Amino acid sequence: MPAFTATAPAKIILFGEHAVVYGRPAIAVPVTALQARAIVRPELRAPHGQVRLLAEAIGLDALMKDLNPDHPLRRVVELTAQELGAAYLPACQITIQSTIPVASGLGSGAAVSVAVIRALAAYLGKSLADEVVSTLAYEVEKIYHGTPSGVDNTVIALRRAVYFVRGQAIQPLRVGRPFRLLIADSGISSPTATTVAEVRAGWQQNPADYEDLFDQIGAIVQQARLLIEKGQPEQLGDLMNRNQSLLEKLGVSSPELERLIATARQAGALGAKLSGGGRGGNIIALVDERSAPGVAASLSEAGARGVILTTVQ
Ligand code: MEV
Repeated sequence: MPAFTATAPAKIILFGEHAVVYGRPAIAVPVTALQARAIVRPELRAPHGQVRLLAEAIGLDALMKDLNPDHPLRRVVELTAQELGAAYLPACQITIQSTIPVASGLGSGAAVSVAVIRALAAYLGKSLADEVVSTLAYEVEKIYHGTPSGVDNTVIALRRAVYFVRGQAIQPLRVGRPFRLLIADSGISSPTATTVAEVRAGWQQNPADYEDLFDQIGAIVQQARLLIEKGQPEQLGDLMNRNQSLLEKLGVSSPELERLIATARQAGALGAKLSGGGRGGNIIALVDERSAPGVAASLSEAGARGVILTTVQ
């Protein structure tokens, strides 16, 4: 019997993380160099409805019925089966593999969900619209952290750049001219749930100041959208630096991230900022063809665990 495989990319947030949870826009793009993969294999000898889940990276080898009902993988399988009208799945084994580092702001959870949803749909001989895939993955995102904006599942399900506003229809973003970014991993694991909760606590204590910071971030996102659409990406660097300062004021940066950001800027990047939940995880730096190798080398020398060059298009 054949296997049914689906992949999903990682993502980075170019502008607007955290403020997007509070209704401001964000811009996010897929990163195809990093992928989650789900492989569904029929299990002809197993009882009908039996689903075995294997994810070597997290030491998981379990029958789905034995997992906690809130386990993200159990949840995503059950939601997808429900959406596809399959009361019981024909018995199968689902293997999950991923090259996306977890807790690093690259959307690993959403990518695993999207890959599993698409592989299961293929197994059942069906296909699901991107919007439906995104909505199902969003339900699982809520388990990872209580108040997700939905930007991760949207950009990953769509596999293209998006201008995202919570609760609004998906808006793909036209990229007027491709541009290059380096993504550098601080090696510090930082679950998004933690920084999102801290920002919420700060906002509850001091709503006026936080709303003002969110507004300033939202204004940067709108300017960035115009520059990206008009094909003037070299001007995004200054906006990235300004977005970073505002993220520092929100308290989601860290000395380690700021060291990598300073390194990138000194080595010739046009701008740099943290990307995603912050505190740890990744920074992104805007580079051109000429500056990319030197900036990448400086980031590695400064201790970045991995440096990836990606083209936004
Ligand atoms: C996480 O990739 C981005 C945050 O804005 C959280 C969210 O949008 O749900 C920090």
